[in-house]
Amino acid sequence: MMSVLALAAAASAQPALRQDNIEDVIKAMTLEEKATLLVGGARGAIVEGVTSGHAAGPVQGAAGNTRPIPRLGIPMTYLADGPAGLRISPTRAGTDKTFYCTGFPVGTLLASSWDVNLVQKVTTAMGNEVLEYGVDVLLAPGVNLHRNPLCGRNFEYFSEDPVLSGNMAAAYIKGVQSNGVGTSIKHYAANNQETNRNEDDAIISARALRELYLKNFEIAITSAEPWTVMSSYNKLNGEYTQQSEDLLTKVLRDDWGYQGIVMTDWGSKAGTVKSAAAGNDLMEPGNQTEIDRIIAAVKDGSLSMEEVDRNVRNMLNYIVKTPSFRKYSYSNSPDLKAHARVARDAAAESIVLLRNEAATLPLKGGESVALYGVGAIDFVAGGTGSGNVNKAYVVNMVEGLQNAGFKLDASLQDFYKAYMEYDRASRRLSNANVRSYKFAEPAFPAQAAAAQAARNDVAVIVIGRNAGEGADRRVTDDFELTAAERALISDVSNAFHKEGKKVIVVLNVGGVIETASWKNMADAILLPWSPGQEGANAIGDILAGKVNPSGKLPMTFPNTYFDIPSSANFPYDYQRNAVQQNRRQPLKDVDVTNYSEDIWVGYRYFDTAAKAVSYPFGFGLSYTSFAYSRPSVKAGKDGFTASVTVTNTGKVAGKEVVELFVAAPAGGLDKPAKELKSFAKTKLLQPGESQTLTFNVSSYQTASFDQQANCWVAAAGTYTVYFCASVSDVRGSASFKLARPLSWKVSDAFAAVAK
Ligand code: BGC
Repeated sequence: MMSVLALAAAASAQPALRQDNIEDVIKAMTLEEKATLLVGGARGAIVEGVTSGHAAGPVQGAAGNTRPIPRLGIPMTYLADGPAGLRISPTRAGTDKTFYCTGFPVGTLLASSWDVNLVQKVTTAMGNEVLEYGVDVLLAPGVNLHRNPLCGRNFEYFSEDPVLSGNMAAAYIKGVQSNGVGTSIKHYAANNQETNRNEDDAIISARALRELYLKNFEIAITSAEPWTVMSSYNKLNGEYTQQSEDLLTKVLRDDWGYQGIVMTDWGSKAGTVKSAAAGNDLMEPGNQTEIDRIIAAVKDGSLSMEEVDRNVRNMLNYIVKTPSFRKYSYSNSPDLKAHARVARDAAAESIVLLRNEAATLPLKGGESVALYGVGAIDFVAGGTGSGNVNKAYVVNMVEGLQNAGFKLDASLQDFYKAYMEYDRASRRLSNANVRSYKFAEPAFPAQAAAAQAARNDVAVIVIGRNAGEGADRRVTDDFELTAAERALISDVSNAFHKEGKKVIVVLNVGGVIETASWKNMADAILLPWSPGQEGANAIGDILAGKVNPSGKLPMTFPNTYFDIPSSANFPYDYQRNAVQQNRRQPLKDVDVTNYSEDIWVGYRYFDTAAKAVSYPFGFGLSYTSFAYSRPSVKAGKDGFTASVTVTNTGKVAGKEVVELFVAAPAGGLDKPAKELKSFAKTKLLQPGESQTLTFNVSSYQTASFDQQANCWVAAAGTYTVYFCASVSDVRGSASFKLARPLSWKVSDAFAAVAK
């Protein structure tokens, strides 16, 4: 290996990197320097002056970094998770100062707001923490579709629908990047399960890819230009995504015009050279072996210098945008108090009211509440794994309800605290571990419920679930309630209903759970998902009527798990240790997952097949009611413009989300009954107040992908536009005609799968 000095001497000149001399810098770089820049992590770097790895630089706890080349003025840049806030180490050796970040609502809750302005406001605050803690790129947003509710990371992702996901991701990216820091939209693509996520091969048709699993990325990338894209771990149609030229060059750059960098997800694979050639610019977290592979491949001709230079150019274009390059003097003191307020407001604006029989909610405020469920104390603000933000505190439901002015039955908190102490001791868990540990719901003494119902005004039951990276959820005792949870809901509602009192269930969950079998026992059901560190205060505000809920579901709640088409091809109640076993034959849904449901994901299936669900896509109640005017739709040169006036016809102020679905003429393809094309949320409308919402949808947005012809086609014929309060609550419709079909050709990526 050449020494650092020899390397430096070998280079003809030493131009310090500027925005306008990138080509000169590339010319001045040695092959070793180029390879260095394409591989992350600094341990074992061949460049002088670098001693810190990604756990030890000035930004501690960042997930990764790029390597510096000091002689050319190329700084190290920092990459940290994402997506519910910035994830860095909260404490550092040698200082009492803390480096906490705000735990914002998870992606699924943000998507439940259906409010792009709100999301952009949240991520503008989040991006400020990225900047002020000295980080260059937030490894977020996570945008993979909710193909199946058991995916362990769904909470990080937005929706089962690509238009909602893509627009949420675009707003997210714009907010973060407005701070002059970058984002990394992930995981590109088809990382829809955690079981064997490193090796599983997702087999997906070109049509389902283009219309669903790539569409979300397309919308976000073309409208918000994230600085970076993170390729996923899994394979897609037989090839690792990080080594797929179809995905990384043909679709991403040729079809969508993407200009930023692509980095791998965090696990070094053997195919470094294939990844670099396919258009994966940066290997993360990276190691010396990968640098050596790139050098050797150029020397033996298996990787061209043009390919290396292309990736290096992308890297340098990225680096000149970073705060590290402009030597931004970060404060390490973002305004956490102001951001906590943003997190609280965002949760309040996004929580979904699923059920509200006989106007159970809002409560008057000040009631005495019997608060049930260990999850009321062990409240889940976010999920586990890389998406877990190191926040200074989490407001739990006990505090949230007290802050909202309710009086709590102390005996219940004593019961749960005693159970937690016992559980901790019996599992030899230290106090320090409690945050990440999910307590199973204890058996509740049913005989106590009658007295509790007699002395309290109302019951609130918290059902808690934790989910996270590296494992999918199970149907038994996770998607479905545990026996103890079912008994708790039934015992408490029997006792309270005998007293003529109401029962409210709060679902503090990371993903969809079964509700059909028990929902009738509850008078009201509130769905705050994992709402961040301030979420329980937002729940308190909604229960007390200070905030009128306006969130709507970003996915379908089916009646049973097995109603979902992808349940036939998803690792169901999979035992994790089986993944480790040696297998001669590929294991179904673990080594290879066939997306045989094709485009029939979520409401596309349920709505088209008229299959009953527990709660439909886009559903959410309010404390007020809204009337929709007769809508108007005008076909223009490119697509159509639609508008509708929404009036608050109830007694309290509120906001309404209007969902615009389109039914397109078949044009030779089997199509969903209708698909979401646009959406908008009103401002806070006072009783009697109206607002007109306008939607612009281009022809391209109404097209379907014809995989035989390898192009998008907007078929000729009649398009019906539906103005909906949920996919099954159509409030008005209008139509227009397209005289001649339109089509848009794309690159030949994935054309082979269509055959
Ligand atoms: C996750 C990514 C994350 C990365 C860095 C990976 O295991 O899949 O989402 O950004 O780690 O922490």
